[in-house]
Amino acid sequence: METQPQAAARMYDERAANYEDSWHPDYSRRLMERVPLKPNDRVLVPCCGTGLESFIAADMVGSDGLVVGVDISTKMLQGARARQAREPELGSRIKLIYHDAMSLDTCAELQDLRGTFDFLICSCAFVLCGDPAAVVRAWRPWLKDGGRMVIDITHEKNLIQGVLMEKVAENLGLKWPSNRQWIRNSDSFRHILEEEGMVVESVELLDNITGKPVSTFGAEDADAQFEYTVNWLLAGTFSWEGKEERARDLFREEWENIACGGRIEIVDWLYLRQSRDYIEGEPSMICSNQHGESAIPKSSAICETFRNFKLSSEYLSRRITTTALTGLRR
Ligand SMILES: C[S@@+](CC[C@H](N)C(=O)[O-])C[C@H]1O[C@@H](n2cnc3c(N)ncnc32)[C@H](O)[C@@H]1O
Repeated sequence: METQPQAAARMYDERAANYEDSWHPDYSRRLMERVPLKPNDRVLVPCCGTGLESFIAADMVGSDGLVVGVDISTKMLQGARARQAREPELGSRIKLIYHDAMSLDTCAELQDLRGTFDFLICSCAFVLCGDPAAVVRAWRPWLKDGGRMVIDITHEKNLIQGVLMEKVAENLGLKWPSNRQWIRNSDSFRHILEEEGMVVESVELLDNITGKPVSTFGAEDADAQFEYTVNWLLAGTFSWEGKEERARDLFREEWENIACGGRIEIVDWLYLRQSRDYIEGEPSMICSNQHGESAIPKSSAICETFRNFKLSSEYLSRRITTTALTGLRR
């Protein structure tokens, strides 16, 4: 069976030539407006594609900054390299690497930069990359202490067809090239980030990503949606290994299950989540459950109270800190 990097290379080599004739350039600009990069920052961009975010980042970090883009599609990287040649000043601040973004440990060109990045920015790709916790775990060591991750993931009601397709493929012993079944609501990713030692600082719901209106479908649309998903989203190159008819039947069952006599609403929304590497023994930055979605300021009264407990370092683990803060609030 095709591995995740092989599937990504297949899909994006095919899309590379027309990739930027799409909503992606506008969306990347919108995303980058929200990222507080500063001069001299070092930025890692796993799954950088044709470099949409990397070039904006290169402008923001200035001539002493560094942007490193990693991608597994040679053709997407070709697009980025061609732009480097067209825009040499920005291009000189960008290093492009052909590698699997899930295995940065085996990338010789990157080893000296381990633990040095101020930001990691992953746009429109995280849900392609397999087990989300494993991905965050693999990426975190590349950040310096307190470094930030900016990652978008699709809303649970965005491209529901693709989520059903994941289930259908799984049932048939195949691997659909995305992994979104774990996204249930806006908290799903927060829990993963926290478990992996990140402090979630903000989540923003961005609408109107591709320009498609919110649409509703009924049970009768199952076959049309199967065709749409297979032929358009993945450019028709996913191999069903002779199981396409069975896949169509399973998809219809899944679709009818969620329609359940009603309508299926499909939205054009993403969650954009910014999180920070947790620094040992710094409970004041914890942002969790009952405290909503933004970081608790260091100066807040609740953090002051907490600090006054002078807990021993073993109690300063992030998880216990969260519970303690929650308790204090009540
Ligand atoms: C939708 S594009 C996003 C590109 C860029 N971030 C943007 O927003 O325009 C997804 C990119 O992820 C890359 N990709 C997916 N899986 C990858 C992996 N395991 N390692 C490196 N790149 C990967 C693909 O090759 C493709 O260029």
